[in-house]
Amino acid sequence: MRLCVLASGSGTNLQAIIDACEKGFISANVVKVISNKKDAYALERARQKGIPSKFIDPKSFRDRKSYDEKIAEEVEEAGADLIVLAGYMLLLTPEFVKRYPYRITNIHPALCPAFPGTHAIKDAIEYRVKVTGVTVHFVDEGMDTGPIILQYPVFVEDDDTVESLEEKIHKVEHKLYPLALRLISLGQIDIQGRHIKILDKDWKKYLEGDDLPW
Ligand code: GRF
Repeated sequence: MRLCVLASGSGTNLQAIIDACEKGFISANVVKVISNKKDAYALERARQKGIPSKFIDPKSFRDRKSYDEKIAEEVEEAGADLIVLAGYMLLLTPEFVKRYPYRITNIHPALCPAFPGTHAIKDAIEYRVKVTGVTVHFVDEGMDTGPIILQYPVFVEDDDTVESLEEKIHKVEHKLYPLALRLISLGQIDIQGRHIKILDKDWKKYLEGDDLPW
């Protein structure tokens, strides 16, 4: 499988995905990385691995629709099967999303449908939930509303801060996103509308303990 990753930030999830592909845990390759931010460290991570990477400036396009058309062109050129959003901070246009049904994935640092949007970790701390977590889902036209592929819980302790919770959530993200992509790449999911059934019934075993599953 060929993955095209869209990222706006530091790209720690991108790194976990690249590593998991290299180790054969995901049966796929990252073939292109695109960012809407010139200085996104994700682009540097791709460069270091010799993966084609590109900054595409939203300001050079007249609107979001034409920006997303350019992204679609890049996706096609790369021959990508799956578009992987990894900390991509732009909402995709409905036209783009409709073009790729069940072919765009996203990771969200909360248990959807709780705390959608860009401040999910801070929102969870302020709400003082006892459990939050990580969601990997297919992208639909809403914000963090698409069909859920995997979710995993993270407990919130009384002394947790945004920073400490973020650290715990990132640790889970770096295993959960590769695992979701592994399942997709091995045909281990059965898509029935909103219901994404996981055929590998032992999937949780990959998330137990501190070690990486590859
Ligand atoms: C992650 O927390 C992800 O859940 C959210 O954006 C963050 C990206 O982090 N969508 P990174 O750029 O992968 O380090």
